[in-house]
Amino acid sequence: MTERTLVLIKPDAVSRGLTGRILDRYLGKGYELIAMQMRTCTPELADAHYADHVAKDWYPPLRAFVTSGPLVAAVLEGPRVIEAVRAINGATDGIAAAPGSIRGDWATSNRENLVHGSDSPESATREIEIWFPELS
Ligand code: TYD
Ligand code: MG
Repeated sequence: MTERTLVLIKPDAVSRGLTGRILDRYLGKGYELIAMQMRTCTPELADAHYADHVAKDWYPPLRAFVTSGPLVAAVLEGPRVIEAVRAINGATDGIAAAPGSIRGDWATSNRENLVHGSDSPESATREIEIWFPELS
């Protein structure tokens, strides 16, 4: 079943020059790029994107991080892309993430962990509407 997911290549990845290598993992797997844009996330956009997390004690530093510089937002499409992107990204904590995953290879942080991928079809629909309303 073909589905879509929202990916964020976060400010740490962009500033470290990892954008191309990260995109290559998704596109090399066989997924199609539907939309992509470099932009700086506002605090309001961060609050909408992370609506499930805004009340957490770790949210204020997360918001500061995601708004700290340009990121790349993208929509990818293909079979079971939501599950596949999360596997390619690896576990949230870069230390715990499996080697071979993006976070496992390039991140040591539980916050500055390079990438975001939607976690369910409902999240993907909601997040694509937030970042790329013209696609909905
Ligand atoms: P979460 O949705 O749990 O992780 P994932 O990105 O793997 O779906 O959390 C969202 C982001 O919040 C996560 O990528 C990094 C950040 N975060 C923290 O800063 N501290 C934390 O303790 C956790 C769990 C997440
Ligand atoms: Mg999540």
